[in-house]
Amino acid sequence: MNALWDQPDRYGLLSRIFHWGMAILFAAQFAAAAAHWGLPRDNGLRQLLWSYHSDLGVTLFLLVLMRGAWGLANIHRRPSHPGVIGRAAVAGHVAIYGLMLIVPSVRLLAAAGSDRGLTYLGLSVFPARDAEIAWMQGPSEWHGELGWILALLVLGHVAMTEKSAEQLLM
Ligand code: HEM
Ligand code: HEM
Repeated sequence: MNALWDQPDRYGLLSRIFHWGMAILFAAQFAAAAAHWGLPRDNGLRQLLWSYHSDLGVTLFLLVLMRGAWGLANIHRRPSHPGVIGRAAVAGHVAIYGLMLIVPSVRLLAAAGSDRGLTYLGLSVFPARDAEIAWMQGPSEWHGELGWILALLVLGHVAMTEKSAEQLLM
């Protein structure tokens, strides 16, 4: 039971499963976005990777909510980050969490007000509207840019936390 929860000297099993599971899924999501950005429209790999972008994005959104709730439930027992560098690390984590929420949210908002609607794993989440709602589309213009900023933050995070990975997350 104890191994499930975070401890002051190491993250618990559930946090580690969330972290590494989502790390793999985010890597796949960034790969799809990179293919969408860099490959020509009729490229088969681009089409294959892009075909799961929306379903994977919604999945990641749901996982972020669950991981955030689990992180809050553990807030007083998880490893702390003292000192100036520790505060910078916490600020970095907060920025990653914020973007992990905002990036899919702006697209979901657009889908909720769109004339195409949204399906998730084949289930209808937002039915298609007769007419688009303009204000719900605006924030999604930043979806791609914010997604790339998130990718950069994650790269920086990987470079900086590599050394503590063994101690904290294995
Ligand atoms: C955390 C989840 C997500 C991440 C990290 C992410 C990332 C990205 C990135 C980086 C791009 C830009 C690709 C390019 O430059 O060509 C992009 C585009 C796009 N994404 Fe996502 N995405 C996520 C979730 C979603 C969701 C949930 C949806 C749909 C409901 C979606 C729909 C789209 C669409 C339609 C585009 C192309 C138009 C645009 O750039 O806005 N994404 N995404
Ligand atoms: C090879 C890839 C990665 C490595 C080696 C790695 C390593 C780590 C380590 C060691 C920690 C704990 C460090 C600390 O508390 O200061 C951590 C925490 C964290 N990582 Fe990563 N990470 C990787 C990928 C990712 C990815 C892809 C994301 C998100 C897109 C991510 C998001 C986070 C967040 C938000 C935290 C804060 C603690 C939490 O709430 O779980 N990491 N990472």
